[in-house]
Amino acid sequence: MLAEKKIRWWRLVFVTLCVCTYIGVAAYIVMPKSSKWKPTPYSFPVSYAPESMNIPADNPMTEEGVELGRYLFYDGRLAGRTAVDSLMSCATCHKQSHSFECGIDHPKFTGGKTFGLTEIPTPHYMMPLINLVWINEGYMWNGFVNENNTQCGGKYGVPKSEEFHCRNIESFVWMMIVAPHEGNGSIEKSLELIRQDSIYPPLFKKAFGTEEITIDRVGKAVAQFVRSLVSFNSKFDQFMRGEYQLTESERKGFYLFSSESGDCFHCHGSPILPLWTTNLFMNNAKDSIFIDRNDYSYVTGNPADKGKYRVPTLRNVEFTAPYMHDGRFSTLDEVLEFYNSDLKRSPYVDPLMIGVNHGGMHLSEQELQDLKAFLLTLSDTSFLTNPAYANPCPDNPYFIRD
Ligand code: HEC
Ligand code: HEC
Repeated sequence: MLAEKKIRWWRLVFVTLCVCTYIGVAAYIVMPKSSKWKPTPYSFPVSYAPESMNIPADNPMTEEGVELGRYLFYDGRLAGRTAVDSLMSCATCHKQSHSFECGIDHPKFTGGKTFGLTEIPTPHYMMPLINLVWINEGYMWNGFVNENNTQCGGKYGVPKSEEFHCRNIESFVWMMIVAPHEGNGSIEKSLELIRQDSIYPPLFKKAFGTEEITIDRVGKAVAQFVRSLVSFNSKFDQFMRGEYQLTESERKGFYLFSSESGDCFHCHGSPILPLWTTNLFMNNAKDSIFIDRNDYSYVTGNPADKGKYRVPTLRNVEFTAPYMHDGRFSTLDEVLEFYNSDLKRSPYVDPLMIGVNHGGMHLSEQELQDLKAFLLTLSDTSFLTNPAYANPCPDNPYFIRD
C-alpha cells in the first residue's frame, strides 16, 4: 500500500516535470527572436564634442552593425553587378590609404577625378570620410545631404522618385546604387546579389536580429561603419597629450595658423576644436566669377551663398590631394600660395578672409614652410592603417582592394 502511494507520488512529479519542460521548450520556440538578440553597444575611442554626435535614434551604433557595414562598404557587388570591371562599392572611390578619398594617384581616377560605371563624372571632387559623426551641418561640399532633405528625387543627380530622402549618411548607399554618376543600377538587383552570398544572413542576424536583408538595413550598417571612422592620433594630438614635442618650425607654423597673420583658425579650428574645421559653409575667395551651380546656394536657394562650400577638415590633409571641391590645387604648396597671394575679391567672400583686401597674407617663404610643417602634424597615419577600417575579405575577388 505504502509502496503504491510512493510510485504515484513519483509519477506525479515526473508528469509535472515533463509538462514544465514541454511548456519551456514551446515558449522558447514561439518567443520573438528579437528578445534573444543582444548586440554590443559600440564605444568610440575618443569623445570630441560627445554632445554633438550625429547618430540617428533609429540607428544606434553596435559592434555588430559596424562590422556588417565594413563588409558592405568594401563589397563590389553593392552596385548590383558582378563582372570584374563593373564592380563598385564605397571603397572604389573612398580609399583608406588616402583618408577615404581616392587620392591624386588613383590608377583609374586620374588626378583624383572620379566617375561612375557609366563614366559620367561626379559633380565635385572627393571628400574624405573622417570624423563625420561630428558633422550636423549637412554632408557633401554643398550640404545637400541634411536633416531637412526629405524629398531629394530629381535633384543633384539623384533619379526622380517619390521614395528618396537625402537626410544622413544612411542615404549614401542607395544614392550610390542609383546615381548615374556612380552605380547607375537598381536597388533590387543589388539586394539580390547581397542575399545570394551565404556570408551575409548571419552578419545581418547579429547586427539587426534578423537575417532579412533590406535596403534600409544595408544603409544603416554602412552608415554605422562610416561613423566609426575616427581619427585622434595625429602628431598634434600626441603633442596635446604631452607625448610629442613640436619642432621649432611646426610650433611657428601653429602660431601662424592660429593668429591673424595666417588667418586659418577662423574657419579651420584650433586645439579646442580638434576636428580642424568649423564645418560651416564659407566662400574662401578663390574666384570672382562663379560657374559651379552646385555650391551651397543650390541647397539653400539663397543667392548670397554663391561660391560657399563646407570648410573641410585639415586632418590628414597630407593625403587628400587634389584640393578644394573642384580639385584645382594638386599640392599643399599650391594651396598655401593661393592663400598667400591669390585671393580674389567678390561680394560673396566671407568677412573672415581678412587678407582678401591685400590679395593674401603675404608671408615669407620660410613662414609658408612653417605653416606647411604644422599642417603635416595633423596627419594620423594610424587612421590609414587601422585594421578595423580595412577590407575584411582581401582574398574575395568581389571585394575592392585598397
Ligand atoms: C564614384 C566614386 C564614389 C563612390 C563609389 C562613393 N562615393 Fe562617396 N563621395 C564621392 C564624391 C565625389 C564625394 C563628394 C561629393 C560632393 O560633395 O559633391 C563623396 C562624398 C561622400 C560623403 C560626404 C562626406 C562629407 O564630408 O560630407 C559621404 C558620407 C560618402 N561619400 C559616403 C559614401 C558611401 C557610404 C559610399 C558607398 C555606398 C560612397 N560614398 C560611394 C565619390 C564616391
Ligand atoms: C573664411 C574661411 C576660411 C579661411 C580663413 C581659410 N580657409 Fe581653408 N578652406 C575654406 C573652405 C570653404 C575650403 C573649401 C573650399 C572649396 O572646396 O572650394 C577650404 C579649403 C582648404 C584646403 C583644402 C582642403 C581639401 O581637402 O580640399 C586647405 C589645405 C586649406 N583650406 C587650408 C587653409 C589654410 C592653411 C588657411 C590659412 C592660411 C585657410 N585654409 C584659411 C575656408 C577657409
